[in-house]
Amino acid sequence: MKKLLIETFGCQMNVADSEVIASILSSEYSVTADAREADVWMLNTCSIRDNAEQRIRKHLKEIAAYKQRKPSLLVGLLGCMAERIKDQLLKEEEVLDFIAGPDAYRTLPDLLKRAAEGETAYNVTLSETETYENIIPLRYAANGVSAFISIMRGCNNFCSYCVVPYTRGRERSRSPQTILAEAQQLLKDGYKEVTLLGQNVNSYLWQADGKTTTFAQLMEQVALLSPQLRVRFATSHPKDISDELLQVIARYPNVCHYIHLPVQAGSNEMLKRMNRVYTREKYLERVQKIKELIPDCAISTDIIAGFCGETEENHQETLSLMREVGFSYAYMFKYSWRDNTFAARHFTDDIPDEVKSRRLEEIIALQGELSLKSNQEDVGKTFEVLIEGTSKRSTNDLFGRNSQNKVIVFPCSTHTRGEYVRVKVKSCTAATLIGELVEEN
Ligand code: SAH
Ligand code: SF4
Ligand code: F3S
Repeated sequence: MKKLLIETFGCQMNVADSEVIASILSSEYSVTADAREADVWMLNTCSIRDNAEQRIRKHLKEIAAYKQRKPSLLVGLLGCMAERIKDQLLKEEEVLDFIAGPDAYRTLPDLLKRAAEGETAYNVTLSETETYENIIPLRYAANGVSAFISIMRGCNNFCSYCVVPYTRGRERSRSPQTILAEAQQLLKDGYKEVTLLGQNVNSYLWQADGKTTTFAQLMEQVALLSPQLRVRFATSHPKDISDELLQVIARYPNVCHYIHLPVQAGSNEMLKRMNRVYTREKYLERVQKIKELIPDCAISTDIIAGFCGETEENHQETLSLMREVGFSYAYMFKYSWRDNTFAARHFTDDIPDEVKSRRLEEIIALQGELSLKSNQEDVGKTFEVLIEGTSKRSTNDLFGRNSQNKVIVFPCSTHTRGEYVRVKVKSCTAATLIGELVEEN
């Protein structure tokens, strides 16, 4: 069998897509992690910020140098960059033998055949229906404990800064039957945790035979498969995280008490410009509701510093909102100008880079404090932890996550990956809880 190397960049959706790609090609190729034995080298790419793309462009230069020594190697670029800048890539990256956008993976066998015949083959056609729903992902890099299940594709939200609606196309949901079958199979294979994935899972909607399934209902059906299977989900858009969903999370102990709820900015002015469709007040109201219905729920977020026209006062409002919510974790970014987005067409990227950097540093420093505080509040508490493996720092320690998605490290020689244990937190850093096994009798 020929060998396939897939390098994945960007979000969890791309990780899930790479498993679909490996599955589609599995009759001809087996996956390798070693470039030296690869017949095909694929990059599944991300366009979300300019630095993500620059990194790939640099990597392509390295691969081009490598290919000089191994001319039979076929090199392909897949994913969001393929969709966004195919023409530019065809012109500027001679190393590429084929290019495939996120909805074109079923045509990869054909693209590869044509590439092998010397053609530069590409397909970046977006689809309004493709969900790869009948393809069983080949989980070639999974840890055997936790897996992603893609429940929908695309995005209709058009946040003004964002390329995703252009690179991934229109939003579409996958049938509940195929999602449940996939979860069921994972359970049989010994997996203990699934993460339901979409750019905006709250707007998941399946309609067939006069029956409608909402995200809250889907979640409940997955949760009911087994109390031994943890269920997570990402990402929730604050504009439509419903009480119905919060009630399901509260009701089922195996649905994790963790919500990733990207806020992006703390001022109504910026939220409006970003086309996020909610206000600061609405966001805080949703957070209040989460805290009321699921008191031990951890909330994490995404924040963008220095969006077009952001004043010092707007920035302060981001900081004050962070304090008010007390996020357990945050992904924080400098605004990156993206060609063809609404922001690129209508606003000026007018915040100087040093100001963006300084604001980002303030946001990162504050989040450091908040993460530490959130972890300190857990010292003395006991959590159920799903063991994921041995700690990188010490082979005597295992690590896993609690329901709140916090990493806990603890010394242990009697348990192993995939088991649930109870761990009492003894101390912490801003990044990790450090605990001790509580032996049950
Ligand atoms: N669908 C998810 C987010 C997907 S992209 C949601 O709506 O929350 C992940 C994060 O990247 C976004 O939440 C945002 O914080 C960030 N991001 C997106 N476009 C960006 C840009 N042009 N510059 C900087 N950060 C950006
Ligand atoms: Fe981008 Fe907004 Fe869609 Fe998230 S919801 S992927 S930020 S357009
Ligand atoms: Fe990046 Fe595409 Fe995901 S732009 S964040 S890989 S949807």
